[in-house]
Amino acid sequence: MAKPKILISDNLDQDGVDILKASGLFEIDYRKKTSREELEAVIPEVEGLIIRSASKVDKALIEKASKLKVVIRAGVGVDNIDIPACSQKGIVVMNAPAGNSISTAEQAIALMFALARKVPQAHASMKDKKWEKSKFQGSQLTGKTLGVIGLGRIGKEVVKRGKGLQMQVLGFDPYIPSEHLTSLEIDLVPIDTILKQADFITVHTPLTDATRGLVNEKNLSLLKPGVRLINCARGGIYDEAAIAKGVKEGIIGGAGLDVFVEEPLPATSPLYDHEDIVLTPHLGASTDEAQIEVAKETAESMVAYFKNGVARNS
Ligand code: NAD
Ligand code: MLT
Repeated sequence: MAKPKILISDNLDQDGVDILKASGLFEIDYRKKTSREELEAVIPEVEGLIIRSASKVDKALIEKASKLKVVIRAGVGVDNIDIPACSQKGIVVMNAPAGNSISTAEQAIALMFALARKVPQAHASMKDKKWEKSKFQGSQLTGKTLGVIGLGRIGKEVVKRGKGLQMQVLGFDPYIPSEHLTSLEIDLVPIDTILKQADFITVHTPLTDATRGLVNEKNLSLLKPGVRLINCARGGIYDEAAIAKGVKEGIIGGAGLDVFVEEPLPATSPLYDHEDIVLTPHLGASTDEAQIEVAKETAESMVAYFKNGVARNS
């Protein structure tokens, strides 16, 4: 009998590919990068699809996917998958949420340091053969207030690191019972308290109707003057135009952004216009360690699904 065909349409660490191969269950088509045309051409034969963020599993693709049984996102966010359209066709959607939490938390902390000590700006200036010591005076993190919005896997890791840096950490997450957060030993506060009091705010929620535009033009005036904003979750949680305006007007002291409404970031964006807006190209999960863990988790879920019909999810 022919083996089910698995398409890996985005880059996946070799450890994951090896687990799939070792199972002996599949015919594996591994393409590190797949154009939309290629994806559409091959999808009718595919029973299991593994993607990261580049491949879009939308309605049009699903309509062509006559044999598809399961899609696994090697990562947390399944926002590039049309889940209702998958459900309608009985296609199971899974993610691999655990492996990249620490790396993403570290990226948030890296951006916090970058903003506090103006590392990217000073680096760019030195590469321009300048010695602008007084221009890049920064601020210390110890004793500052860090607001963490979203206290799931990544938010909790950020809290621990903020406390390790001797910051005062405030947290907000309406969906996690406070008794589940007691071990974090932080102050759980209403979101407006974070907006008004925090020197640094970092978001670790999905993008939903409740989180879209969490900082926006209307509530800019609530923010503590000079606040630095960090987003390693999803583009749009802070309104991009509002951030650019806030930084330009000196309300916001800086922003460190890893994720964007449109990715890759378009040729023109208000986010390019100010040196205190520090940008990274969706690197939160891009470490060797996270990619190995996520690839293993993804491959093990694919094997478990085809072997025992088990659908693991978060
Ligand atoms: P998670 O599901 O473990 O945690 C998300 C938390 O957000 C939950 O505790 C939930 O209760 C909370 N939340 C939901 N709505 C909220 C709201 N309105 N206000 C406050 N809290 C709210 O997810 P996670 O693994 O911690 O991932 C968090 C985010 O980071 C996701 O958007 C994910 O896609 C993104 N992510 C980005 C990268 C990257 O490369 N930059 C890597 C991994 C994850
Ligand atoms: C995720 O949701 O896990 C991320 O966006 C990470 C990624 O795949 O780059």
